[in-house]
Amino acid sequence: MLIRQIMDNCALHRLPSKNPGDPRGMLSVIEGERDIPFAIARVYFLAGTPGDLVRGSHAHRALEQYAMCVSGSCIFDIDDGRRRESIVLSGPDVGLYMGPLLWHEMRAFSLDCVLLVLASAHYDEADYIRNHAEFQELAR
Ligand code: TYD
Repeated sequence: MLIRQIMDNCALHRLPSKNPGDPRGMLSVIEGERDIPFAIARVYFLAGTPGDLVRGSHAHRALEQYAMCVSGSCIFDIDDGRRRESIVLSGPDVGLYMGPLLWHEMRAFSLDCVLLVLASAHYDEADYIRNHAEFQELAR
């Protein structure tokens, strides 16, 4: 369910619980091409990130990603070349969809933060844009 369209290719979603009210706890499911708009090729997660560290600081040429804090919280700073938005990711039922050409930085990791990311393609360094000036040229 869409919470907010942040930019053309960036949106905040709420994942419906499969077992609301279950005393055994939460079971959350994400199916590629159903709950998110792409087939999942790769899963990675960040944990134990120091709270004062900034990660990311890049954009992707084609990769689509879906990020959620399955534990704790962090802040995403997103820039589409026209404007910037800061999004607090908190809670395992909220996910951030990011399409290509979004400069992003992650910061303010809580001690218990586990940031899970689903990606549409295998790792490919050639898909990374790590130079902000180059990103601005491409995003224009
Ligand atoms: P990197 O993307 O540089 O981290 P950040 O998002 O902070 O810029 O990734 C760190 C290292 O991990 C780098 O050597 C590349 C490697 N890596 C993989 O091998 N596979 C992956 O899926 C990812 C995300 C990173």
